[in-house]
Amino acid sequence: MTRVIEPQPKILDITLYQGGPSKIAGQDNAVKLSSNENPFGTPDGAKAAFTKAAHQLHRYPNTDHSALRQAIGDVHGLDPQQIIVGVGSDEIITFLCQAYAGVGDEVIHTEHGFSMYRISTLAAGATPVCVPERERVVDVDAILAACTNKTKIVFIANPANPTGTMIGQREVSRLADGLPPQAILVLDGAYAEYVEAFDGGAALIETRDNVVMTRTFSKIYGLGGARIGWGYGPQEIIDTLNRVRGPFNMSEPQLAAAEAAVKDRDWVEKCREENTRLRAWLAEALMEHGVPSDTSCANFVLARFIDNDEAENCDAYLKSNGLLVRRVAGYGLPNCLRITVGDESSCRRVAHTIGQFLEQSR
Ligand SMILES: Cc1ncc(COP(=O)(O)O)c(C=O)c1O
Repeated sequence: MTRVIEPQPKILDITLYQGGPSKIAGQDNAVKLSSNENPFGTPDGAKAAFTKAAHQLHRYPNTDHSALRQAIGDVHGLDPQQIIVGVGSDEIITFLCQAYAGVGDEVIHTEHGFSMYRISTLAAGATPVCVPERERVVDVDAILAACTNKTKIVFIANPANPTGTMIGQREVSRLADGLPPQAILVLDGAYAEYVEAFDGGAALIETRDNVVMTRTFSKIYGLGGARIGWGYGPQEIIDTLNRVRGPFNMSEPQLAAAEAAVKDRDWVEKCREENTRLRAWLAEALMEHGVPSDTSCANFVLARFIDNDEAENCDAYLKSNGLLVRRVAGYGLPNCLRITVGDESSCRRVAHTIGQFLEQSR
């Protein structure tokens, strides 16, 4: 018998996700500004809740996540029935593709869009369609022009990663309202908490049946290592996603940590304020060194260098000085480095080191 074992269509087109580097060979205390993590760590209450829940690891976890959904609903003024919890917002993205896109269908992401949109689309057997942005900003007209009768999902992050740019609510509404009838608009709000008084697009969902929002505990809540995200959308869509969700996708320590974190409103406030202050400082300091960036609405700055070589050499220089940032050539931005807004000393150190590099090289 000759075996013919082959993966499903498109799986072999997937390029593996590249995480931000976390180590520099030979250096024990590198400063990591490569994965948009919270420099203040995790709220104490979330750590305590995680540890406490770990005493019950022999028990299967709750399957409906009702306590966490209720807590999220209370904090954000949302109906808990319309919330789904997943292993990071990555898993919600996967559920959406799995449930709504398959062979022959198209899923739109934008030019510099988050790479999991393409990966999850291909994993579902569907075809990713990449739409140009306008100067690193999502272009609603270009997306609408790219829609066909095969378009099933449109993914945008607002604010976007790795550009940090945002489009306004009117543009988002125009996008939602202009989509073909079979398409869902997914608003990825991984960085929504960094924008003051921004609901991530939740209000749009109240009046539309084709919009889903995804959110994460990985960024402002400092729980990237615990893997917790959630989605909010029309009841019919959430019920559909729950059909593909594994019943025990979340462990009790994850659920308990997220519940404690979401209730800690002072934490969110403090982290947002510090991020806003230090992000402005960092962008300004880079500009003084001749390195521009777009106004960022997230917890990172996308620094633009003259060309690919300069960005690559600067990255190497930063590494040799114990600083890890993110190259984003794979996102179509070869002349850029994405720098997470760290604590004050990290911001000062990274700006100073970039200044030193440019003094020597320009
Ligand atoms: C835009 C965007 N969406 C989603 C995610 C995934 O986050 P999570 O850790 O919740 O899976 C990230 C993580 O970097 C992101 O930048």
